[in-house]
Amino acid sequence: MKITKICCIGAGYVGGPSCAVIAHKCPDVTVTVVDLSQERIDQWNSDNLPIFEPGLEEVVKSCRGKNLFFSTEIDKTIIEAELIIISVNTPTKTYGLGKGRAADLKYIESAARKIAEVSTSSKVVVEKSTVPVKAAESVNNILSANHKHGVRYQVLSNPEFLAEGTAISDLLFPDRVLIGGPQTPEGREAIDALSWVYQHWIPMEKIITMNTWSSELSKLAANAFLAQRISSINAMSAICEATGADVSEVSHAIGTDTRIGARFLQASIGFGGSCFQKDVLNLVYLSECLNLPEVAAYWQQVIEMNEYQKRRFANRIISALFNTVANKKIAIFGFAFKKDTADTRETPSLYICKYLMEEAALVSIYDPKVDHKQIVSDLTDPAVSDKETVDKLVTITTDPYEAAKGAHAIVICTEWDEFKTYNYQRIYDSMLKPAFIFDGRMILDHQSLLELGYHVETVGRRLVRNSVNRLQAMPK
Ligand code: UDX
Ligand code: ADP
Repeated sequence: MKITKICCIGAGYVGGPSCAVIAHKCPDVTVTVVDLSQERIDQWNSDNLPIFEPGLEEVVKSCRGKNLFFSTEIDKTIIEAELIIISVNTPTKTYGLGKGRAADLKYIESAARKIAEVSTSSKVVVEKSTVPVKAAESVNNILSANHKHGVRYQVLSNPEFLAEGTAISDLLFPDRVLIGGPQTPEGREAIDALSWVYQHWIPMEKIITMNTWSSELSKLAANAFLAQRISSINAMSAICEATGADVSEVSHAIGTDTRIGARFLQASIGFGGSCFQKDVLNLVYLSECLNLPEVAAYWQQVIEMNEYQKRRFANRIISALFNTVANKKIAIFGFAFKKDTADTRETPSLYICKYLMEEAALVSIYDPKVDHKQIVSDLTDPAVSDKETVDKLVTITTDPYEAAKGAHAIVICTEWDEFKTYNYQRIYDSMLKPAFIFDGRMILDHQSLLELGYHVETVGRRLVRNSVNRLQAMPK
């Protein structure tokens, strides 16, 4: 089976970067990314790409118009391609059975129905979006129930492991590529065809093949394990704050054990992003449906700990500010769910803002990349606040110094590198006193801030200024 044309359905955070890298590395393959949204496709075809991702622009520019195309001509692109990648969104359901936990597969289903409707030749269909275990089977059922004479489909699972902010290097140098498929001669042939695409730049030993369900479950399991590590270190951070231990030291100590490893042990105000919460909830729902309540409860606790961490940090802000933030200006540094992305899905920053706004604080938000319209849209979500309250309490600035001017406190919600480079003396001079910094990402030099006169609070470490202004952990 020879692959000359790939169609990717869904031009989002997953489809866009992953297909740009495929096109970049496979000049002998034409890759067309299609989407229902004309606006999104226009952005992909412009100088202003719809997502901010370091290195993405260079990759897109190197092959756009040559073997990489962005289009709304969905039918034509499907008809011409031998291989179709589905990378539409799979948000958590907001209605009906499994509401708040199960993945909503309506976009996947409609993509599958579209493929079945228009295809006139056999296709390999690749499920790249994160989906519950056995989703490929549903896609297969839809395709085979609607197939035309002589048209056959092989459905593969090829989950994406890229993290936002490092998507391009994750795609160029992945730890592994996972391909799950039917263990039949036709299935093997389809797996080999997709594997051939990746072999353009990824060594054979990093391309792992397995059955479809193992592949689907591995994606959920990987995200659940990563989220669990963060919840575990965040649980430790609460113990550190109560005892005088320092969570960075604990992370270092346990991370040097090669069995544990050093990554994903950074305590924080909680994890955000479009994947972790969604996938863990998905796993909880799956376990419940499989009548495995103990397994469901185990993974649910990862979410509970994350909620607790966000709530605990927000509470610390209020209590440090003499138990009231009403009418107090509070600068929020960072709205994205992590650095180097403009994505705000499930961002812990939103939770902190919501909580402070419920206490009538005047929040002044600065983020280097997130669009102001996006911040307003997130804050005016019915689950967060209403337009009147946002108009009254929120300002969004393009200048961090302006955000902090006249404020009682700065709250670091995202670990943007530029936050480490600011002139904190100048900021201190412009703030009301006592001036507080709540470092929810543990990125600032707390020693220097204390010396400047700030009251500093951070995650997993209690700080006091002693007589010679040396930073020390507070004894119990
Ligand atoms: C994640 C997975 O890493 C990726 O493999 C998968 O394909 C999609 O989900 P992403 O959500 O983009 O990627 O970012 P990630 O770097 O995993 O961070 C997720 C959240 O966890 C962020 O809010 C981040 O700030 C937080 N985090 C991460 C911590 O709080 N501590 C850490 O040690 C690491
Ligand atoms: P992800 O982070 O999973 O990539 P995004 O929301 O960023 O999710 O992107 C998903 C994209 O898929 C959106 O641009 C959406 O318009 C597109 N999409 C959803 N359903 C379909 C469909 N049936 N056909 C084409 N595009 C679709």
